[in-house]
Amino acid sequence: MKTISTVAEMREISSRARSLKQTIGFVPTMGFLHDGHLSLIRSARSCCDLLVVSIFVNRTQFGPNEDFDSYPRDLSRDLELCRINKADLVFHPPQEDMYFDDYSVFVEETRLSRGLCGAARPGHFKGVTSVVCKLFNIIQPDFAVFGQKDAQQVRVIDRMVRDLNIPVEIRTAPIVREPDGLAMSSRNTYLSPEERSQALCLSKTISLAEKLHSGGELRASTIESAMRELIESYSMAQIDYVEIVDSGSLEPVEKIEAPTLVAIAVRIGSTRLIDNTVLGDS
Ligand code: PAF
Repeated sequence: MKTISTVAEMREISSRARSLKQTIGFVPTMGFLHDGHLSLIRSARSCCDLLVVSIFVNRTQFGPNEDFDSYPRDLSRDLELCRINKADLVFHPPQEDMYFDDYSVFVEETRLSRGLCGAARPGHFKGVTSVVCKLFNIIQPDFAVFGQKDAQQVRVIDRMVRDLNIPVEIRTAPIVREPDGLAMSSRNTYLSPEERSQALCLSKTISLAEKLHSGGELRASTIESAMRELIESYSMAQIDYVEIVDSGSLEPVEKIEAPTLVAIAVRIGSTRLIDNTVLGDS
């Protein structure tokens, strides 16, 4: 496995691989890898000749009061995990190689990114689409794998690729959970032991929605009320949103008749966590 730290070298290797008709698979990450990331790497591994994992904590997707500086980082552990999981290349550029001082061009999706996490994190998805577009241009992958945990992110990137005719296939891999149900996230490391146990309200709320739906409940308002009530029973949990939306348009629905995304964001102390499920998807 090789670590690449300049845009120029990464472009050169990708262009060479493409001229040799090799398939390039890509897993973008911000590092501090956990089993969720590793599941993306493993799912990509068997489908490509060259597997590239990027590790880049992207400043432009963090708001001014968010955790860019404190975001967990452990490059040597990440490199070892990439090696064990058979990545061919790790692309780990420095900030200054990705963003010139006078960087002034962004890619912005303007519809799907308005609600859910976009409402609480203005500018977040603009930072995500901009960096992912740059990474696609540099790495030129045939396909890229994203986690369903960031459901809105996947929809937004899918839309960017469609609307800008970017020749890359977007694949989604299922949420990976801790044995007790908590969805894996690099931000879980921020939780104190008490917060960690309160954080279980997210997966329990998602399971409740699934249970109500499989018991025949189709009314979004009924499911949403039950979800809110459960979260509110946890003393340290503060709801950011509980939303039941069409899985494609991300517009709110009244009844679950087509694939429907049930998504939540909850603050446990100062840590904001998200979770989701898709209902009505046969
Ligand atoms: O999901 C993430 O880790 C990031 O948003 C991504 C896609 C790597 C872009 O920085």
